Amino acid sequence: MAAAPPLRVRALPLLLLLCAAFSFHAAHGVSGGGGHGLGVNYGRVADDIPSPRRSVELLRAAGAGSVKIYDANPGVLRALAGTRWPVSIMVPNQIIPDIAASAAAADRWVAENLVPYYPATRVKFLLVGNEILSDYSIANSTWLRLVPAMENIHLSLRKRGISSVKIGTTLAMDALADGDFPRPPSAAAFRPDIAASVVRPLLHFLNGTNSYYFVDAYPYFVWAGHNLTVPLDYALFQGGHTRYVDPVTGLTYTNLLDEMLDAVTIAMAKLGYGRVKLAVAETGWPNGCDYDQIGGNVHNAAIYNRNLAARMAKNPGTPLRPGAKMPVFVFSLYNEDLKGGPGTERHWGLYYANGTAVYPIDLTGRRPLWSYPPLPALENNTPYKGPIWCVLSAAASKKLNETAVGNALAYACGQGNGTCAAIQPGEKCYLPNTTVAHASYAFNSYWQQFRKTGATCYFNNLAEQTIKNPSHGSCKFRSSLDS
Ligand SMILES: *[C@@H]1O[C@H](CO)[C@@H](O)[C@H](O)[C@H]1NC(C)=O
Ligand SMILES: *[C@@H]1O[C@H](CO)[C@@H](O)[C@H](O)[C@H]1NC(C)=O
Ligand SMILES: *[C@@H]1O[C@H](CO)[C@@H](O)[C@H](O)[C@H]1NC(C)=O
Ligand SMILES: *[C@@H]1O[C@H](CO)[C@@H](O)[C@H](O)[C@H]1NC(C)=O
Ligand SMILES: *[C@@H]1O[C@H](CO)[C@@H](O)[C@H](O)[C@H]1NC(C)=O
Ligand SMILES: *[C@@H]1O[C@H](CO)[C@@H](O)[C@H](O)[C@H]1NC(C)=O
Ligand SMILES: *[C@@H]1O[C@H](CO)[C@@H](O)[C@H](O)[C@H]1NC(C)=O
Repeated sequence: MAAAPPLRVRALPLLLLLCAAFSFHAAHGVSGGGGHGLGVNYGRVADDIPSPRRSVELLRAAGAGSVKIYDANPGVLRALAGTRWPVSIMVPNQIIPDIAASAAAADRWVAENLVPYYPATRVKFLLVGNEILSDYSIANSTWLRLVPAMENIHLSLRKRGISSVKIGTTLAMDALADGDFPRPPSAAAFRPDIAASVVRPLLHFLNGTNSYYFVDAYPYFVWAGHNLTVPLDYALFQGGHTRYVDPVTGLTYTNLLDEMLDAVTIAMAKLGYGRVKLAVAETGWPNGCDYDQIGGNVHNAAIYNRNLAARMAKNPGTPLRPGAKMPVFVFSLYNEDLKGGPGTERHWGLYYANGTAVYPIDLTGRRPLWSYPPLPALENNTPYKGPIWCVLSAAASKKLNETAVGNALAYACGQGNGTCAAIQPGEKCYLPNTTVAHASYAFNSYWQQFRKTGATCYFNNLAEQTIKNPSHGSCKFRSSLDS
């Protein structure tokens, strides 16, 4: 590994570092970034989504300017051939250690996953891993191997004379010590557990190869977590007169995303790399959410993504880097129903899985905002205070898979204390003696018991939250308001 950058940089006054960052106004345009339409993340963790060919049509209809995928799927890469879109492909997290350990393994990956499709498919970015520094279970096995893996891939590309593909990796906002909301941005710094060991060598690599720091930045989550203090409109790029002034830099912010991006730049500057370019690998707003979440709705999602497109088309940069060109990728093409976690996870799409647009959008940002048809009314911008239950979803009971539901039922009953006592023979919820009825009872019982420690109402897409009391007769379902 090349020498670490001089430590003295850390002793310089912050303002000096900021000037260095400030003086950078991306000299080179980035195709696929502003002006040509936002990029789109084409994730495929879903049942029955349109084919790659149909997906290309849907991307085109939305005005996408580039496409990012989470692997190097051959069918997808072939469908993207000849489209002229800059394409971003990804090395999966699991193989990073192998690729770091062996130049031959890296070269084999390039030979199998890039070379057959390139340049017909205009691969522009090759991302090594997805948010690996957020996954503590691979801290020992993978974190220190990230940069060596990127270097091996770089060597392979050089050897093959491929110079137009930039190498990067995506990082979530939790690479910063204060997570996704480091306010003021001037206080931002990388987490101490990764700053010197991983991030500094990463920045050295990115700086030396004129590549980008790819950040996943979601104002939605910041707003949701601070819904009492951060105005929604400030997160949606329509803050009106809402301003935030960083007391150290004096820079004035008009929206949340800019604060988050400048925080990353400032953290980079503190490690001596204030000139590394930024790319927004993922951003967006959920078009739906669970009852115990807020603000995930079609109305807000349409406003966020339309405003983002209109804004980025003008290449505004950020207060710290006015005019800097940034590739920006919206998350995501489809609502992905096989993603676990809370309801928002399955509702980021521009399209439903059946290919219907969730709301009209022009990702080139050229369509005037006033010309869109009216949006559905708002429902959930403030927390829901009533009781919530978790039951077998309407879709899962309509298309019942006894095996899958039986497995989920067994899982729920196996986790806790008496989770399923009431559905044993002779007990209050035994009748009706059906998998459907027992599953709803067990899902709810499990979720109420464990939601405080992070359990979600998901069960492999078999469960959903409801605000309709599923209790019947003498069988009582506990609600989110019962302690
Ligand atoms: C990583 O290594 C440290 C120190 O050896 C150890 O304490 C920790 O449990 C390991 N973490 C994982 C996830 O294996
Ligand atoms: C970053 O790259 C530039 C251009 O190659 C170089 O002049 C500069 O010294 C590099 N910065 C660091 C901290 O290595
Ligand atoms: C709203 O914000 C408060 C803190 O400001 C937080 O505790 C709460 O969880 C948030 N509500 C939701 C639904 O995220
Ligand atoms: C596609 O799915 C959405 C959401 O489930 C639904 O509202 C819409 O009617 C469907 N469109 C068609 C054409 O089936
Ligand atoms: C039903 O669920 C089982 C277990 O999850 C799965 O293996 C099977 O493919 C499913 N059957 C259908 C028809 O979807
Ligand atoms: C089960 O109940 C016992 C006694 O009430 C308690 O100590 C234990 O923590 C509970 N376990 C779980 C998983 O809730
Ligand atoms: C309950 O349902 C199971 C499975 O269908 C069946 O084997 C059992 O005999 C039923 N019990 C009663 C008391 O009906």
